[in-house]
Amino acid sequence: MKILSVVGARPQFVKLAPVCAAIAEGGHEHVIVHTGQHYDPALSDVFFAELGIPAPDVQLGVGSGGHGEQTGAMLAGLDPVLRRHAPDWVLVYGDTNSTLAGALSAVKQLLPVAHLEAGLRSFNRRMPEEHNRVLTDHAADLLLAPTRRAKRNLEVEGLGARTSLVGDVMVDVCFQARDRALSGTTAPTAPAEGIDPAAPYLVATVHRAENTDDPELLEAILDALAALPYQVALLAHPRLVARAASFGMQLRRGAIRVGTPLPYQAMVGAVLGSVGVVTDSGGLQKEAYLLGRLCTTLRAETEWPETLVEGWNVLMPQPIRDKELLAQRVTRELPGTRPGLEYGDGKAALRVVTELERARRRS
Ligand code: UD1
Repeated sequence: MKILSVVGARPQFVKLAPVCAAIAEGGHEHVIVHTGQHYDPALSDVFFAELGIPAPDVQLGVGSGGHGEQTGAMLAGLDPVLRRHAPDWVLVYGDTNSTLAGALSAVKQLLPVAHLEAGLRSFNRRMPEEHNRVLTDHAADLLLAPTRRAKRNLEVEGLGARTSLVGDVMVDVCFQARDRALSGTTAPTAPAEGIDPAAPYLVATVHRAENTDDPELLEAILDALAALPYQVALLAHPRLVARAASFGMQLRRGAIRVGTPLPYQAMVGAVLGSVGVVTDSGGLQKEAYLLGRLCTTLRAETEWPETLVEGWNVLMPQPIRDKELLAQRVTRELPGTRPGLEYGDGKAALRVVTELERARRRS
């Protein structure tokens, strides 16, 4: 069987790693197409090298742009590549513009397309990721759901017959990195310059347009982070750096120490060494949960509601302006119980390949 993966942004490289290993284990041919949505080495190359993913077979080099411009350029680049390779499956991951472009290009050429991480919903129709999720799910032939709730969401939309529950491949990769970090004998390292790793610190990321693109709101978020009673390692995504620079804003203030995006293993190590996470990222919310650290999410809703159980993760009402509320939330008590296993057992990638094999035989 020939599987063609379309990836382009950081969270997709993380998901690709265990899938890539499982495809190789199954003896299948795998073509990796990188759209170039993320092109900074810290958001892209470092993940391929560290997670043992072979270099992409095709690099489209699309880069940044408005949603239409970026997605359109990907479509134009993908059409001839998919036609040339004519795979048995086009596999798309998550909810980025690269996901939607991959699904559209495949479906228009009558190539079977599978969506990994299908069925997630924030029910916030203002999020570009929500458009990408819904449109990709309705275009795809096989929907690989990470959780029971995701499967239910798809059933409600009339997509149950195309859905398989496989678990979450991010658990596979997260638990491997956790075990490596915990077996290490090295002293804790600072996740950002100026952070004392022996004293309590928070890992923070802010990259969503709804938080970064309004100067008044971004200023309020930075002020609230700066006023927290712990050191804050703000691992600044290029979008955050670019927006702050264009607004003439300093990121470093109060408790905030500014760092760069971390490679995956270092990120898992940083979360394990922290007292908690403050983020608007989807993946990091779940990693905090899997690693047993408190998460405070800088959004009013989440597509990973399982993390909210027992208060492992709490949401912030939008717009985020209330410094005291954020401080209260990040200093809350740890829940009395361990996080659950709703996201799977660390073997989801093998199930993904089994489902692709099974659905291929049926067609
Ligand atoms: C994208 C995804 C989001 C995912 C996130 C992970 C969409 C709509 N959004 O958001 O779902 O959670 O990736 O990081 O697909 N930039 C660089 N260098 C890079 C990449 C981006 O400087 O390598 C800057 C550019 O100024 C660009 C901005 O970041 O305009 C936004 O990048 P973009 O790919 O549009 O979206 P992300 O915010 O990264």
